[in-house]
Amino acid sequence: MPRIEERDIYYRRAKELGFRARSAFKLLQLHEKYQLFDDSVRLAVDLCAAPGSWSQVLSRKLVPKHQLLIQQQQKQATASAAAAPPPPPIVSIDLQEMAPIEGVHTLQGDITALSTAERVISLWRGQRADLVVCDGAPDVTGLHQIDEYLQSQLMLAAVMISTHVLRPGGAFVAKIFKGSCTEQLLVPQLQVFFRSVHVSKPDSSRARSAEAFVVCQNYEPPVGYTPILMALFAAPPTTTPTATTSNPATAIATTTTTTTTAAAATNTTANTNTATTKQSNATPAAPPAVVDVNE
Ligand SMILES: C[S@@+](CC[C@H](N)C(=O)[O-])C[C@H]1O[C@@H](n2cnc3c(N)ncnc32)[C@H](O)[C@@H]1O
Repeated sequence: MPRIEERDIYYRRAKELGFRARSAFKLLQLHEKYQLFDDSVRLAVDLCAAPGSWSQVLSRKLVPKHQLLIQQQQKQATASAAAAPPPPPIVSIDLQEMAPIEGVHTLQGDITALSTAERVISLWRGQRADLVVCDGAPDVTGLHQIDEYLQSQLMLAAVMISTHVLRPGGAFVAKIFKGSCTEQLLVPQLQVFFRSVHVSKPDSSRARSAEAFVVCQNYEPPVGYTPILMALFAAPPTTTPTATTSNPATAIATTTTTTTTAAAATNTTANTNTATTKQSNATPAAPPAVVDVNE
């Protein structure tokens, strides 16, 4: 009797097409519906990227455009003033190490940690991403409210990183768990930053799962908005926090510091708050077999 995932059409197709996870089809199907990779899309960030099937999709879509750009630059450059090659078009981050993918600069780190957010943002200094995607999911604890809370912290971290790196008009796609109050609260909040926000469940996302994706297009922050890295990323308090505080920002900091620690603790992989970087030209490790990373 074959295992369930072996009967799954997307598992088989992922294997045939060399994707590391069946999740690749979720991003591809969201693209079919919302045209995520139109001609203007050249630079992307993949948050919570391991084992890397979304990064593979991004690589297959963006690397050919990137190579064209390099060729054009090379033609224009004179022998005396050869242009430095542009950096890889995709930056991918995860708690777990990822095997290299062409055109992808991988970082290992916790996206809710200040050091990782700063590292990602600094990589984009001087240029802006066209697309940020986040398929992040914490390891489930089985306690629904904690799981929902951890998921919302990943979303908050992803939105904050996006406000630092996205160009106006850019897009953001992130996993949510539908039916929770996250959707009712989150969609209006995202509409403050994006002109178009949809909640979508691609066919490849299992029907029994509450998983869905927010597809936010046309990034347009409020006039005068200055992105900040807020207290979500605050360092742990050195003194024992008191039960009440008169400063709401401090209250957020206290709560989210605990969450950051919890998010790291729920992952079985070694987690480093200092992001480590790896260039895509590293010795290729054997890509993992197709895995069923989530729903
Ligand atoms: C569903 S998997 C992503 C699958 C990926 N999109 C793909 O197609 O291969 C969720 C990932 O979120 C990562 N993750 C969870 N919490 C994280 C955090 N705080 N920072 C970075 N990555 C995180 C996990 O390590 C896991 O690899």
